Amino acid sequence: MAVGIDKLSFFSPNQYIDLTELAKRRDTDPNKYLIGIGQSEQAVIPASQDVITMAANAADQLLTEADRSEISMIMFATESGIDNSKSGAVYLQTLLGINRYARTIELKQACYAGTYGLMQARDYVALNPGAKVLVVASDIARYGLATAGEVTQGGGAVAMLVTENPKVMTLERDSQFMSQDLMDFWRPVYATDALVDGHFSQDVYREFFKELWQRYREQTGRTIADFQAFAFHLPYTKQGLKALKDILPEANAEHAEHLLAEFEASRVFNKRIGNLYTGSLYLSLLSLLVNSATLKAGYRIGLFSYGSGAEGEFYSGLVQAEFKKGLINEQVERLLSERRKMTIEQYEKNYGQALNGPLDREIDFKDDPAKFVLAGLVNQQRQYINQQ
Ligand code: HMG
Repeated sequence: MAVGIDKLSFFSPNQYIDLTELAKRRDTDPNKYLIGIGQSEQAVIPASQDVITMAANAADQLLTEADRSEISMIMFATESGIDNSKSGAVYLQTLLGINRYARTIELKQACYAGTYGLMQARDYVALNPGAKVLVVASDIARYGLATAGEVTQGGGAVAMLVTENPKVMTLERDSQFMSQDLMDFWRPVYATDALVDGHFSQDVYREFFKELWQRYREQTGRTIADFQAFAFHLPYTKQGLKALKDILPEANAEHAEHLLAEFEASRVFNKRIGNLYTGSLYLSLLSLLVNSATLKAGYRIGLFSYGSGAEGEFYSGLVQAEFKKGLINEQVERLLSERRKMTIEQYEKNYGQALNGPLDREIDFKDDPAKFVLAGLVNQQRQYINQQ
């Protein structure tokens, strides 16, 4: 039975900074950020959004009333969760009006957890034909002001409905995965910003990709010629380009050129959002599906998921004939065009405010047009509001 992504949706809040302006403020050549890192803009998450509201805003757009009554599991992947006990998926069940007979669970392994959720969803649907599983990956990437990682921040959420006979892409049963206890990036429970051994993390990412690609070829007998496109976890878009270039010598010149063009399509949105950790690979997939001029039914896409700490997975999906119908028309273009640019001074002034403050507080959400917002905390309980 074919199982995979039936619908795919994205959300990121309505404010951003321009990375040329950030480079000037940091006394850095803008081309380091624009070309060396491959990022042009960065989403800035206001105090009125957190991983729950972003996830709800992403998922709400793709769910029909029938979906809400039929979903049997909600898998919420994040590494910027808001509670060490309660799963974010339970909040989503309420906000999204999903039936009470759904299982709800939160998953964590750095940026990798969204892929784990997707694979579990695939296996669950394969065992339970007709079942629908909602997988949402939502994160806020933070490294701190004026750190080397600052240019790779960002945030947002991707929601995916997994069903049989999916409209967008099947998830093939060809995954190769691996884990290794490494300290390339971590965030102790008391910290709001990530700690990272940046250059080491870049190397581990590429080593994991090369090892898994090699293993994939051995296990499946497939070669690069079997792939019409690749989508990568994109902590910043140059990282994916480097990984792709590591295997491009295996392709003939014409195919290599084609794969590079598809890579450009796969990074259009990520360049303007930044890292969204668990959702990053799936924003890149969405970018590819929306911006590629050549994708069509039956094309095989290779997907590389990487989560620091570290865990990686490489698998493939087959594009379906009706894939455009599983996407929300012009959704990301609309989100991007309606965003408000912050000055670097505003961004710096607000940086600590979104996460810090008295345990109980009111949050000003009047400038936030999103459907779901965080209005404050009462008795240390988060107060979510549906503005519509
Ligand atoms: P850095 O040390 O400031 O940058 O930090 P750099 O000196 O390495 O330069 C970056 C690139 O810009 C280089 O290109 C330079 O040559 C180039 P490369 O050699 O790598 O191809 N450059 C220029 N290009 C054009 N014009 C110029 C110019 N100047 C320099 N004038 C670093 C960069 C990524 C390390 C830092 O931003 C960082 O620590 N980021 C956070 C960590 C990260 O994103 N790691 C990625 C792999 S780990 C991962 O993906 C997991 C993660 O998502 C977390 C999770 O799993 O939860 C992060």
